[in-house]
Amino acid sequence: MLPRAHITADPDFRLAQVDDRMYSSFIEHLGRAVYDGIYCPEHPTADADGFRQDLIELIRPLHIPLMRYPGGNFVSGYHWEDGVGPREQRPRRLSRAWRALETNEVGTQEFIRWCGKIGAQVMMAVNLGTRGIDDACNLLEYCNHPGGTAYSDLRIAHGAAEPFRIRTWCLGNEMDGPWQIGHKTADEYGRLAVETARAMRRIDPGIELVASGSSYPEMPTFPDWEATVLVHVYEDADYLSLHQYLGDTTNNMQDYLAKSLTTGQFLQAVVATCDHVKAKKRSKKKMMLSFDEWNIWYHSLGKDDEIQEKSPWQKAPGLVEDVYNLADAVVFGSMFITLLRHADRVKIACLAQLVNVIAPIMTEPGGGEAWLQTIYWPFRHGSDYGRGTVLLTAGDSPRYDSPNFCDVPYLESATVWNEEKGELTVFAVNRSLTDALPLDISLRAFSRAELLEHLCLSGSDPLAVNGPGKTAASPRRLTGAAVQDGKLETQLPALSWNVVRFRVER
Ligand code: AHR
Repeated sequence: MLPRAHITADPDFRLAQVDDRMYSSFIEHLGRAVYDGIYCPEHPTADADGFRQDLIELIRPLHIPLMRYPGGNFVSGYHWEDGVGPREQRPRRLSRAWRALETNEVGTQEFIRWCGKIGAQVMMAVNLGTRGIDDACNLLEYCNHPGGTAYSDLRIAHGAAEPFRIRTWCLGNEMDGPWQIGHKTADEYGRLAVETARAMRRIDPGIELVASGSSYPEMPTFPDWEATVLVHVYEDADYLSLHQYLGDTTNNMQDYLAKSLTTGQFLQAVVATCDHVKAKKRSKKKMMLSFDEWNIWYHSLGKDDEIQEKSPWQKAPGLVEDVYNLADAVVFGSMFITLLRHADRVKIACLAQLVNVIAPIMTEPGGGEAWLQTIYWPFRHGSDYGRGTVLLTAGDSPRYDSPNFCDVPYLESATVWNEEKGELTVFAVNRSLTDALPLDISLRAFSRAELLEHLCLSGSDPLAVNGPGKTAASPRRLTGAAVQDGKLETQLPALSWNVVRFRVER
């Protein structure tokens, strides 16, 4: 048993309101995300639009507010015009980003319709790789202009009389990455992004714009990329993006479990860079962040290169199909907690991705059974109970050292107070592979506190995975603890994701 950890939550110490868009996600034209994923006209549950309703039923409870689309790397070679109008006239193209066949059966209008079915809005990315200002503006005109112009009338002719009023737009994707089609230097991208932003705002002043930050913190150009790009776009972009995927790449699980510390360091460095540019520009504006790709990604890495090299140009190849284990769910949970702890700056976060591609929801190839991955649960719990105000909690935890990290707290936690519902939720991870972590949660600053439930995802096998018809890791309710004198004494099982919920009165 480890020494005791402590958390104290006080309603007077508030970090920030959690933006609902913290629970956003992402679907790219990649692998089986769209074709043989959400869109599968031959599936028995397919609706009149060809979308699998069984998947829609699994996605709806996640209450996803915003879906990023159509990429990702895909967008940097995409011609949006290929994906609108009569389906039979749409061209089949080589998706150069993923060396796959793109049939364009699903495009802008179909995806917007699908988002309506899951209750989400679209966060549209424009191609700043092979294209530029004109094409971004044309797409915006197609989507948001009421009518009476070439592109808005084209939308109307394609069956959508009302504009889509898409509010949030990404100015390209990962333009810092040499793998990106149309990769640019920071100055080249910064200039293009600011001019595109200004031209787009002339068409629709109500839009919000996300400038592309670094693809991951280990990029050699990080954080100079941010510093240079922001000098160009600071006053014209509303958000700067961050992307990060964690993985057990050193085959040392205790080290892997510490990796969300890099997410916190990444966020701190990006915030510092934004604030540096703010000071330099004597600006009054605080740059907010869009963490628009985050997840675990490592299981499928080698396999994918082989598929793309040896059997390219397939429709819906099985790319990036990581199957997540229990340890992955715990690391995912600690990454999510880190996002919550930066809710003062992170206003949008997109779980990348949603179906079949590094996804919480999988389907068997060929329109087979759908099933839930281990990482589904921390995301679902966050969306269910992580809306409200993040409290700044005091606390301490025993710590450990691993090959690449020192002083790693076994406990990672964030506390969200939903004042309206009178509920408080502590999200907590125990990073120990072997020991339970005794934890005290002090709620003495509230006049009343009562334990509602303690949900826990844990198990004896860190490598346990779910699969079709097989649930090896799913949450259970822990019982036996109660709040006494304003304090809960509980235990977090070894290697666990926990959601401790209270009814509270101020
Ligand atoms: O989400 C998968 C890929 O990861 C995206 O296409 C790209 O933006 C990132 O590198």
